[in-house]
Amino acid sequence: MKDQIEKLKKEKNAVILAHYYVPDEIQEIADYVGDSFFLAKIAKQCAADILVFCGVSFMGESAKILNPGKKVLMPDSTADCPMAHMVTPEKIADARNKYDDLAVACYVNSTAELKALSDVCVTSSNAVKIVKSLPNKNIFFIPDRNLGKYVAEQVPEKNIILNDGGCPIHVGITAKQVEEEKKFHPHALVLSHPECADSVLNISDFIGSTSEIIDFVKTSDRREFIICTEEGVSFELNTSAPEKIFYFPTPLPVCPGMKLNTLKRVLDCLKNESGAVEMRDEVREKALAPLEKMLELAK
Ligand code: 13P
Ligand code: SF4
Repeated sequence: MKDQIEKLKKEKNAVILAHYYVPDEIQEIADYVGDSFFLAKIAKQCAADILVFCGVSFMGESAKILNPGKKVLMPDSTADCPMAHMVTPEKIADARNKYDDLAVACYVNSTAELKALSDVCVTSSNAVKIVKSLPNKNIFFIPDRNLGKYVAEQVPEKNIILNDGGCPIHVGITAKQVEEEKKFHPHALVLSHPECADSVLNISDFIGSTSEIIDFVKTSDRREFIICTEEGVSFELNTSAPEKIFYFPTPLPVCPGMKLNTLKRVLDCLKNESGAVEMRDEVREKALAPLEKMLELAK
């Protein structure tokens, strides 16, 4: 299957983009593997005719919004992130009515419709920087409560209004599970994604996006780490730091949407050019400005 994928990629001038949470077999063959910010940047710069996006639907949508003229294919169109739907247009309208001087900062883990109603997008690796740089005093941070709370702590000069959304996988990691790992591995550092609950972040040694966690491990002189994010990052961690040891909380954090990406589905979608990401022109056009603003402000 890998050989066939390589051949089709060349024939069709296609590239494969993959998030760190997809299965190892896909990370192995992808042209670009990264966190959601890196993949959005690549999607914008890439010269290929076809982008095969191995991730969840909000990632494919962002790639399409940034590249309306390209074919963006997803190996499984049903691969979704539940958090992407965890705020309503009505709630956004209410916040706009209630607060003067408000900016809606939308985590990229959101549908294109929600992005279209927002002022700026952020990812976990640039949310603090971007929120800090906004001229507005009031920020409605959607949809992730935990990331919003983390940003609020880092940017106390802003009034951050939180929304009740969250990632079921990261929220499922508890401080008790982390303490349990620490008991067995007392020398390990705890590295956590900001989507985790603050009870986990409070006992963490480092907080960052998936790429930032990987970079931290690469440059650290420590040997053992407890990783509080989705287990797919272990592929890159083991590849780039084979001498180091990684522990994950139990039960293992697994994102079902990300795992719908398989080699067979990548092959089929390249062969048939199926799974094209489509959306209404009006939504796509409105969602472009907040995404481009993110790319600009994150520089
Ligand atoms: P990153 O921004 O670290 O890629 O995280 C995306 C995500 O879905 C986390 O659950
Ligand atoms: Fe969404 Fe959570 Fe999966 Fe990330 S890990 S894609 S936030 S469900």
